[in-house]
Amino acid sequence: MKTILVTGGAGFIGSHTCVELLNAGYEVVVLDNLINSKEASIDRIKEITGKDAKFYKTDLLDYEDTLKVFSENKIDAVIHFAGLKAVGESVEKPLAYYENNIGGTLNLLKAMKINGCKKIVFSSSATVYGVNNTVPYTEDMPTSATNPYGYTKVMIEQILKDIAFADKEWSVVSLRYFNPIGAHESGLIGENPKGIPNNLVPYIAQVALGKLASLRVFGNDYDTPDGTGVRDYIHVVDLAKGHLAALKYSDANKGFQPINLGTGKGSSVLEVAKAYEKACGKEIPVVITPRRAGDIAWSYADTTLAKKLLGWEAQSGLDKMCADSWNFTVKNPEGI
Ligand code: WQD
Repeated sequence: MKTILVTGGAGFIGSHTCVELLNAGYEVVVLDNLINSKEASIDRIKEITGKDAKFYKTDLLDYEDTLKVFSENKIDAVIHFAGLKAVGESVEKPLAYYENNIGGTLNLLKAMKINGCKKIVFSSSATVYGVNNTVPYTEDMPTSATNPYGYTKVMIEQILKDIAFADKEWSVVSLRYFNPIGAHESGLIGENPKGIPNNLVPYIAQVALGKLASLRVFGNDYDTPDGTGVRDYIHVVDLAKGHLAALKYSDANKGFQPINLGTGKGSSVLEVAKAYEKACGKEIPVVITPRRAGDIAWSYADTTLAKKLLGWEAQSGLDKMCADSWNFTVKNPEGI
């Protein structure tokens, strides 16, 4: 059976993808530096699937260590999650973001090339649609960014596009995630941010736990039905399954192909808060605060290409996403 290298495989989306890969019969090798994740996630993956993922505590910035992973395993394809991903932090630490995300990716691609591995599924983001496109976002729209994190995704997509143009043997699928939330139904793996969460749902989860007093709603004066920001929230297990569909697509298709992974539906901040109240059975107090710099009113996917090329579409709705998020939170109040 094929062996898939999952960089960042101990992380939120990476660990859920490892579960789906193992359940589908793939051999899985995880490379992760554990800067934003725990090795315990690897044990949880085994607890869920009954199968082992081979784990390397490795930083992609260490080229020799990265080469070792390829020399010790026959890697058929790579799913590349490893990267720093906090928008605000990227503004404060641009050098760290460019070195880690771009430098790490360049090392990975060089190691792939000299080992004859030319299939990669890349963890991109709807953030590459920037602030000048109109929803629903389609993959042919121009990409841009408003922060270093977003620029690393735009630049890595360009690097991958150029590689696929120069060497027609490469298969590159760049998956543009919208807003991944939720957790595996077992409650054993889920979103595990360090410190005060930046993102909406993990923040709400901390309010529901009683660790944070209320949800700050970043602006209610947007041009949306209730004035709060609208996003395309997608269940992390649906997202994980999208990666398996992308792997299959890369077996039969060469070249560079961006594909949106979203539901095609938008939900406002207040709608998410309400759905979470239903899931946890508690009130989520909200305080309206000024807008967060860099936020946009609307973001949601056109899902045509994912259906057409991958035969994939999201299955879960907001209620299940919030119920699975709450189930993980209750079982792991201090995180994994
Ligand atoms: C969602 C909505 C906020 C927190 C970012 C990255 C994106 C991806 C997902 C990595 C917005 C509002 C949030 C809070 C709030 N990350 N909000 N109070 O900004 O859509 O996307 O995370 O790939 O690349 O850009 O997600 O969860 O931060 O915000 O009101 O405490 O919730 O204004 O409308 P975002 P988010």
